[in-house]
Formats: sequence, C-alpha cells, structure tokens
Amino acid sequence: MTLPERARTLCHEIENTEASTKDQLEQFRLKYLSKKGAVTALFDELKAVPSDERRAVGQELNGLKELAQNRFKALSDQLETQSDQTSALALDLTLPVPAHQLGSVHPLTLARAKITEIFERMGFSVADGPEIETDWYNFTALNFPENHPAREMQDTFFIEKSPEDSTKDVLLRTHTSGVQVRLMMSSNEPIRAIMPGRVYRNEAISARAHCFFHQVEGLYVDKNVSFKNLKDTLYHFAKEMFGPDTTIRLRPSYFPFTEPSAEMDISCGLNNPDGCTLCGGSKNICKGSGWVEIMGCGMVDPEVLKNCGFDPEVYTGFAFGMGVERIAQLRYGVRDLRLYSENDVRFLRQFEGI
Ligand code: DAH
Repeated sequence: MTLPERARTLCHEIENTEASTKDQLEQFRLKYLSKKGAVTALFDELKAVPSDERRAVGQELNGLKELAQNRFKALSDQLETQSDQTSALALDLTLPVPAHQLGSVHPLTLARAKITEIFERMGFSVADGPEIETDWYNFTALNFPENHPAREMQDTFFIEKSPEDSTKDVLLRTHTSGVQVRLMMSSNEPIRAIMPGRVYRNEAISARAHCFFHQVEGLYVDKNVSFKNLKDTLYHFAKEMFGPDTTIRLRPSYFPFTEPSAEMDISCGLNNPDGCTLCGGSKNICKGSGWVEIMGCGMVDPEVLKNCGFDPEVYTGFAFGMGVERIAQLRYGVRDLRLYSENDVRFLRQFEGI
C-alpha cells in the first residue's frame, strides 16, 4: 500500500474509533497522536516519497493529523458531558431532606431558667457575684466565726491564705450566700432577689457529690418580713416547680446565717394512687419516706443584717438556698450528678425540644 493509501485507511479507522472511558481516550491519544503514534510514523516516511509527490502527500498527512486531533477533541468533549450527566443522576433532587439536627438546652440551664421564671413572677430580681471570693463574704460576714466548726460543713478550695488577716483569704466560693452580703452592702433599700451561680467544694467526685455545682440563693429583706412570708413563698415555688399537688414540710436545722433555720422537703408523691413521680418508683431518692429535701432556708440572722449595714431593729429578712442539680434531678429524673458535666450527647439529646 502506498503512503497516501495507508493515510486514507488510517483516516477511516480514526473516524470510526470510539472512546467511552478515560482509558480508551488515552489509548486513542497514544495510538494516533503521540510521538510514537501511527500519524507521526507516516510523517517519518515522507522523506522517502519522491520530491515531486512530496508536497501533495504532505498535505494529505497534514489533513490526517488535523482529523486525528479533531476526533480526539470530540471524544474528550463527549466523555465530559457524559460524566456531568452521571453525576447529575447521582444527585436525586426528589429525595427527602435529612432532618435538621437541633441542639438542646442543658438540663441545668433549663432548671435554672424555670427557677428564675417562678421567682421573677413573684417580684424577685436576679443578681450575681464573683466565683472567686474572700473569706469575709463567704464566711465571716455570714456569721461563721473564725475556727468555728460550721466552716467544716463546707470543704473549701483556698487560693490565697492571708498571713495577717484570715478574713482576706481568697477562695472559690462554697455557696452563693456570699452574694447576699454583697447585695446588702451595696444598698440600704429593701431587697428581693435571687442569686444563681456556680459553687465549688473540695469533694471527691461521685454519683452524689461533685467538686463544682450550682445553687440559687434567695434573699428578701424589708420591714416586717416574717417566717410566714418565707413559707408562703417557698410553697408557691414548690407547686410551680413540681406540680400543684406538691406539699412541703419545714424541718428545724442549723445554718450560722439564719435563725431560726430550716430545711425544706417536698412530697415526692410516694403515697399517690399512681405512685411516686419524682423517684420514678425506685424509692431511692426519698428512701421510702415520701419526702425529699430540696433546700435550706431561714430568717436572716440579726448579726448578718448588722454586718451588712441593715438595722436588725428595723429590718427583718428571709433567705434560702437550693441546689440546681438537685432540682434538675427531680424534674428530669437524672440519677448521677456526673452526667451534668460529661458532655455526653446521648444524655444531652434527651433534652431536645424541652
Ligand atoms: N448556703 C447553704 C449551703 O450551701 C444553703 C442555704 C441554707 C442558703 C440556708 C441560705 C439559707 O440562704 O438560708 O448549704
């Protein structure tokens, strides 16, 4: 076969070659267009063509080369549109959209918000104070005398011990009661406030104790504030928080900053016909007694009023303090304190939408 004949055969072959994959396209390039390809091989033979025919044959070979290049471009364009179409097929716009994963509010935040809402409706404002406190606000002003055993009730994390004046010791507050002192010292006006916040105690971490937890403190100071006012306020709170059938009882207790002092229990519903709602039938919270303790309270000790600039002959007051973890435990059935701070999403997701 002469060179022009072979060129025409190759032309025909190229025109009829298909490439449906990237591999096949590459094969095409190697076979016809690369330096070792069939078209280049024909060009190499051009030298042997007699000079009077060379020009015509050369033109024919140039036509062949152009054809091979055009065919390559066409095949690669075809492959491109094909793959666009397949990826368009992979994207099924009619599929239902996956449900949007909502975050949830932490149970302690939920409980604190509910406590705050109830007291705000009774006219209490919300105040806060520092977590790093001096001994004076945390203990001394609250009538915990130096070396008094009552200080041992709360294991304290000390930050700085002052060599000359122990009331200047710096510590992590062990309760929110110090904010009472700050409030009373900052004004001579009557006070009706709650004080939510985080507190710290040097305790080994277990299901029932933690080295940090949360409290809400309450303080009402005015002329003629009575123990009855305290009881009415807390009874209303208990019913709002745990349901209208909840009853309360106050047991005598001791706190250095209140006199008289009490601990408040709420009925856990053990004796209800449909069983106990708070213990979830397990009785492991009320220990079968039907009552669970939720806070400490009492009438502000005259000594504390005096320490904070209020005349105890003119003013009286009541105070209370509750643990937010405890309230959340009873409201949501949380059995282990550690769950609150472990950030396990399997726990936290259960509060979605509450
Ligand atoms: N501060 C107490 C504690 O952490 C709780 C408490 C008891 C606060 C009686 C009060 C109160 O305001 O009146 O154990």
